[in-house]
Amino acid sequence: MSEQKKTDKDILQSPKGMRDFFDDSFYAKQGFIHTAENIAEYYGFSGIETPILEHTEIFAKGVGENTDIVEKEMYSLETRGGDRLTLRPEGTAGVMRSYIEHGMGSQPQPVMYHYSGPFFRHDKPQKGRYRQLYQFGLEIIGSQKPEYDVLIIQTGYRILKETGKDIVVKINSLGDSEVRKNYLEKLIDYYKKYENEISNKDRGRLETNPLRVLDSKEPETKKVNQNAPTCVGNLNESSKQHFDTVLAGLDQAGIRYEIDHTLVRGLDYYSHTVFEFVVYDDNGNPSHALGGGGRYDGLAKTMGHNKDIPAVGLGLGIDRTIETALPETFIPEYKKTPDFYFIQLGDELSVASFPLRELLCAYNIPVRFAQGKNNLGTQLGIAESLEIPYALIFGENEAKTQSVIVRTMKTREQETVSFDNIITYCQSLKKGVE
Ligand code: HAM
Repeated sequence: MSEQKKTDKDILQSPKGMRDFFDDSFYAKQGFIHTAENIAEYYGFSGIETPILEHTEIFAKGVGENTDIVEKEMYSLETRGGDRLTLRPEGTAGVMRSYIEHGMGSQPQPVMYHYSGPFFRHDKPQKGRYRQLYQFGLEIIGSQKPEYDVLIIQTGYRILKETGKDIVVKINSLGDSEVRKNYLEKLIDYYKKYENEISNKDRGRLETNPLRVLDSKEPETKKVNQNAPTCVGNLNESSKQHFDTVLAGLDQAGIRYEIDHTLVRGLDYYSHTVFEFVVYDDNGNPSHALGGGGRYDGLAKTMGHNKDIPAVGLGLGIDRTIETALPETFIPEYKKTPDFYFIQLGDELSVASFPLRELLCAYNIPVRFAQGKNNLGTQLGIAESLEIPYALIFGENEAKTQSVIVRTMKTREQETVSFDNIITYCQSLKKGVE
């Protein structure tokens, strides 16, 4: 495809659906990741980081050729060496690839990982939908026990509760491969009867991905879906037992859930449990999913491994979650609010002020430095607008006497303090601020 000619103005904008994080949005994202990692570590997960690029087949085979992600949304490239690589649209396939590559199956099972980072989907951008999106993910690989489905949901729920919102889990079961095969036949038979009543788009999907017709947003299809056969109503004994254990676990854990027979998720690798987290607005409408996941026992084999590896996981949408949370809910611990605004008068003093800066930083006193603006009044004005409670003023006299003026911004009181005493002095003022 030929590239459209871009003006300089176009080039100085971030690419469509991609954005910058700075100031509050930067700290909210980092703060959420820290909170989520902290909770996940308590639940027994440890960290993993996989590459942002993987071989295209990992996603084409793993996520599924007929999914929206693989059909329309992947950013793929050919390297100079001729490899076809894709910017990861999701994290599960890469973590499973890593599990297989590093023979993690020989460790005590299951292994449990958390991860976070950017993912890429060439979707139509809108509020809550980005082309570079961020996820926090959890994967438990190596066990088919339903108790791990509960653990995944419980950990995700606990993390999302930190938003301060009422989180609801929507849940469904797609059963094992036998159930799915029989169910798909039943579903297709059902839709055949109503072929003229569903939307054009869904008629096409009937051929390629009939399960997706079930969670169609098209009004005419939604009507037909009301009486469609449910997968939960068609589970075999072992799949039913699996699902019942998951629901009993959620009841025990006090997690609010709703069975949603139309929930199938947009990725092909799921079996048994699938779920999404939503919040409801005041009119009772559910939000975009804040996260979702499920069991993916067949993924390893579809990706080309010689046997199935049972696993379950989730992905939380960081963009949507921080947009849903109240402001200042997520702030990383390392974020510093400076208590002191360091004003140095005259450029020739800049070298003389270095030892003092070193001293303050060495004693963990957060300071904002103002370099080379000579007018004291202007500088104090900046300190005031930044709401920094104290100013440290360093002029020619102070350089000579190895001291600094400490000014309390509110009362305008000032005191000259020697370098020898400045740390104890600042520490006592800082205590007053806290
Ligand atoms: P997913 O449902 O495709 O699942 O994505 C998980 C979450 O990422 C969504 O619920 C949503 O909050 C967020 N998300 C997805 N696309 C966008 C977008 N374009 N813009 C903003 N946020 C978005 C997965 O990716 C699976 N890997 C989850 C999983 C892990 N299943 C098993 N293990």
